[in-house]
Amino acid sequence: MDVIVAGNREELGKAREAAGPGRYALVPTMGALHEGHRSLIRLAREQADQVVVSIFVNPLQFGPHEDFSRYPRTFEADLGVCAEEGVRVVFAPAVADMYLPDRQVAVSAGAMGSVVEGAFRPGHFDGVLTVVLKLFNLVQPDVAVFGQKDAQQLALVRRMVADLNLPIAIVGAPTVREADGLALSSRNRYLSPADRMTALNLSKALRAGAVQREPERIKDAARAVLETAARFDPPLLLDYLALVDPATFTEVTEDHRGEAILAVAAKVGTTRLIDNVVLALG
Ligand code: PAF
Repeated sequence: MDVIVAGNREELGKAREAAGPGRYALVPTMGALHEGHRSLIRLAREQADQVVVSIFVNPLQFGPHEDFSRYPRTFEADLGVCAEEGVRVVFAPAVADMYLPDRQVAVSAGAMGSVVEGAFRPGHFDGVLTVVLKLFNLVQPDVAVFGQKDAQQLALVRRMVADLNLPIAIVGAPTVREADGLALSSRNRYLSPADRMTALNLSKALRAGAVQREPERIKDAARAVLETAARFDPPLLLDYLALVDPATFTEVTEDHRGEAILAVAAKVGTTRLIDNVVLALG
């Protein structure tokens, strides 16, 4: 069956009528779809009768010096991916369809939105949650699927659903990696072969941390890999390495028991990359 493309609320309504009744899953994306997105779509198909993929490069979540204008836009190829994966509706609004010129009200990600990744990208998670809430209101899905690769985003979406009583189930999907460990990301296409060699050290650092048991040893083992990579050409320029509680994103203490997330962000060449791994402590 053909993919129905909708650009606004009215077209979405018609698309849903054409697609038919049942349980709806939303996979929110910014396009430039890759194997990681395919895995989100496949998980969504297991959860619902119909899958809607949104494709929208959200200006609100990019800082003034970030890559909004050069973010990859590959709409025709994305539609092909959606068709291959059995997606029924693609929601691809223009910026003017999403945001009123005099918009006033937005979602605040609170304190949890200004730590770890949020400390390096002020306002980023406010922008993410604002667009995700709007997508939820427009598409009205029963379930929405987000990648674990953006672990803090996933945790904040769960927080928003709980705090604002949204009737939507949130499902996290495991990170998809290349055979050599590099986490899939739409931004990987910016990497030169030399950048890519350096970038491999993000996942290598996470693996080195993951074989340790205590918080300080976990971070020390990961940091040692990142320090070596800081001497590569091009160098790995570390933004942060953090071991945090998966629900709150606060740093875990030595006596922490249960799951923790080891998260890393670094710049390689002109590309900023993030990655994380979930660990069981104690
Ligand atoms: O993860 C992304 O691609 C984006 O942050 C999202 C969830 C589509 C919101 O713009």
